Formats: sequence, C-alpha cells, structure tokens
Amino acid sequence: MARHGIFAVRDVGSLISETSEEGTQLKKAVSANQLTAMGVGAIIGTGIFVVIGEGSAIAGPAVILSFVLAAVACAFSALSYAELASSIPVSGSAYTYTYATLGELVAWIIGWDLILEYGVSVAAIAVGWGGNLNAFLDAAFGFALPEAISSSPEDGGVFNLPAVFIVLAITLLLVRGVTESVKANLIMVVIKLAVLVFFIVVAFVNFGTGNFTPFAPDGVDGVTAAAAIIFFAYIGFDAVSTGSEEARNPSRDLPLAIIGSLVICTIFYVLTVVGAIGIATPEQMSASDAPLAAALDQGAGLTWAAAILALGAVVAITSVVLVIFYGQTRIFFAMCRDGLLPRRLATVNQRYGTPARLTVVLGILIAILAALVPLSTIVELVNIGTLFAFVLVNIGVIVLRRTRPDMPRPYRVPWSPVLPLLGIVFAIYLMADLPLDTWLRFLGWLAAGLLIYLLYGYRHSRLRTADVPPPSEVSPSSELPPRADDAGAGEDGPRS
Ligand code: ALA
Repeated sequence: MARHGIFAVRDVGSLISETSEEGTQLKKAVSANQLTAMGVGAIIGTGIFVVIGEGSAIAGPAVILSFVLAAVACAFSALSYAELASSIPVSGSAYTYTYATLGELVAWIIGWDLILEYGVSVAAIAVGWGGNLNAFLDAAFGFALPEAISSSPEDGGVFNLPAVFIVLAITLLLVRGVTESVKANLIMVVIKLAVLVFFIVVAFVNFGTGNFTPFAPDGVDGVTAAAAIIFFAYIGFDAVSTGSEEARNPSRDLPLAIIGSLVICTIFYVLTVVGAIGIATPEQMSASDAPLAAALDQGAGLTWAAAILALGAVVAITSVVLVIFYGQTRIFFAMCRDGLLPRRLATVNQRYGTPARLTVVLGILIAILAALVPLSTIVELVNIGTLFAFVLVNIGVIVLRRTRPDMPRPYRVPWSPVLPLLGIVFAIYLMADLPLDTWLRFLGWLAAGLLIYLLYGYRHSRLRTADVPPPSEVSPSSELPPRADDAGAGEDGPRS
C-alpha cells in the first residue's frame, strides 16, 4: 500500500538529517579552494581541447561569441545551483533538489537524466583521453598503440584499452578516499591551467588578425548552434554541488566554488579561443582531433609547442574524468539511499569513508561502455541532458521560494524569480538548437528511465517504506520550519 503518490516530495529537514545516519555518513573533508579546484577540474577538458574544433567549424571566428553566449547561459543556472547547494547540502545535486521541490517522479527523471551528464559522459571523455594519449605518444615518440586495442568496434577496433585503463585507475582513486582524490585533482588542475596559460602566451606572441574575417559566416544562427555544442566545455561547475555533503562549510564554500570556477574557466576560455583564432583558421582547427595542438602546429608552425599541449590535454582530461565520475557516484549514492535504486549499494566503506561498493560497480559499467562506445554524438546527448537538468534546477529555486519561504538560505539568487527564469530561457534556447536526432535519443533515454521507475523505484522508494515518515510527520527537531502545506502528506507534489 503506497502512502505517497508519484509526486510526493522529500522533506528538506529529513534529507539533511539522513546525511548523518550511521553507516551512510560521508567524511566532511573538502575546503573552499578544493571545491573550486573540483569545479575547474570538471570544467576544463574535452570541451576546450577537442569540441572547440566543431564549434569553430559551425560559427567561424565568431565561435568566440559562442563561448561567451554559453557562459552567460550557464551563469544564471550557476546562481540557482549555488542557492540550492547551500540550502540543501546533501549529495545528489539536481536530483536531490528536485526531490525536495518537484517530487519523486521528477527527481527520478532528473537522476536518470544526470546519468547522461555524468556516467555516460565519463565513458566518452575516457575515449577522448585515450585518443589524446595516442596522439601524444605519436608526436613525442613516434609510437602509437595499434588500432585494435585503442578504438571501439564502430571505429574499426576491438576495444579501447586506454579508455578502460583510465576509468579503472580513477575508480581506484575514488575508492581510496575523497581527500586523496581532491589532492590528485588539485595537482592536475594546476597543470592544466599552466598548459592553457602556455597556449595563450604562445598564441598572443604569434598573434595575427588575418583569420578574424569573415567573422561570422553563418550569422547569429551559426553562433547559437555552436554555443549549443560549446556548452559542453562549461559542464562541470554543477559537479561541485554533487559533493556538497562532504564540504567543510557548505553554506559559504559552495556558492563561492560554483560561481568562482565558472568565472575562472570563462576567462581562460575566452582568452584561449581568441588566441587560437589569432594563430589558426577555423578550418585548421576543425580538421583535427586535437584542435589547439593543431593551431600551434599548423597555424603557428610550432611542433614542439603542440607536443606540450597534447600532453597537457591528457592531464586535463584526466581530472575531468575524476570529478565527473566522482559526481556520478554521489548522485547514485543519493538515489540508492532513497531506495529508487538498490539501497544496499549506498553503504559507506568504513575504512575509506567512501561509497566503495557503488564506485566499483559504476567503474566496471563505465569501463565496459568506454571499451566499446565511440565519442561522436555523445557530446550532444550529454548537452541536452545537462540543459534539461538546468531547467529543473531553476524551476526548483522558484518553487522552493514559494513552498519554503522561511527555509535558511545562506546564499540567495538575486532578483528571483527573474534570474532563474532567464536561466530557464537560455537553457531551452540552447536545447532548441540541438539536432532532432539528439532529441529523439534523449526522449528514448527518458522513456527507459520511466519504465525502470515504474518497475523498481516506485515500489522500493524510501518514501513508501516504514522508516521514513511522510512530510507531515517529520521530526520537529529539524531546524527548518514545517511546510505550510504539509497536511496533504505530499500526495500531490508541489503547489504554487
Ligand atoms: N566541461 C567538460 C569538458 O569539457 C565536460 O571536458
């Protein structure tokens, strides 16, 4: 017998109190700088080193504007993420916020959707890592791994060994502990920023204005279409919020880290793309799998610099795999803890203080995917999934302001609901520019998720098992005031 309908919401107070339950308690060990580094670690990777080529093919030199447009689109949503992450510092990011605002069904949909942004993209990023590694080996030592063990069947290989290697190596790091992981990430972040500084300096020393005309061969349409692809380069600032339960001082540090990492990366990206167009034509970049290296090599004629950059890309993409994979484990952790996925996976290893079992299971699944799946259209699928999550997070801010006006909000989005509404508009604007195929794949993915929810999650949800009281019965010990409309026991979801 179900006490809650599919739109039942989780009480914010009980979500927070569950984080200190015996056996499912994560270590609170991550500082503000480490969180910001996590953001930068998740953001700067395949997008700037690889996807920039595709963007410049679509928009021409005006890809610079596409980078700015994508950053603006992200900025509004970053503010909403900051508000929700600081007021609900619980693992799970958009999934958890949605559970507390729009109800279980929508939360499940978003959790399932986030698998595209995190799990599936880790596999794709790992494939990109393998490709860059091979490019570096080739450039530096004239040696490359044979096709059979370095690409997927669709690309003419048997399986992708480097991609499997990086996924399993990162799995071990994440099992070992979050403190070790953020330390390793910090080193990689420093290296990748140094590599981008190196690129920017070399590019500006060799800068010319000849490649800037015609500036926007496909006009505004080209700029927007490229922004929808380039958006991939910014994904990751929201990954900071997936680990909010492990933050030392979530209310202050999360907004700082989310907004700070986005600002830092935007500055680096704009300088990088301006520098790139200053030394290479959009055609030179789009023809290569390593566009920035190609810009140095073919554009500026500096092969030695291209080799350094290729190595830098390998390091950069390693930290993206680390942080995005980390985010996936924490979202799964929250979904398992809520019973929408098997709850026995949501146990924390007592020795390491990490969800080790879950991490290993995910690591194996992602490694299999990485061994067999090509990179190609994954970027668009990841983008549409992420933009959809942004829409729901912005809606979450607006809904929670109405249903929980008195909830402590250490950080508040200014001029709400105007800025969250702009976040929604920008996200939909970019989604609309993605191809029909991407939309169909995305809808197919959501339909599969719905089926799993109806067959498993709905029945096993913690909301429908004896140990979680309905919202109206939640312990008053919570510091949060009860919802004004709790009397309905959450049967009918959000009210407005
Ligand atoms: N923003 C991340 C990257 O560019 C996903 O690799």
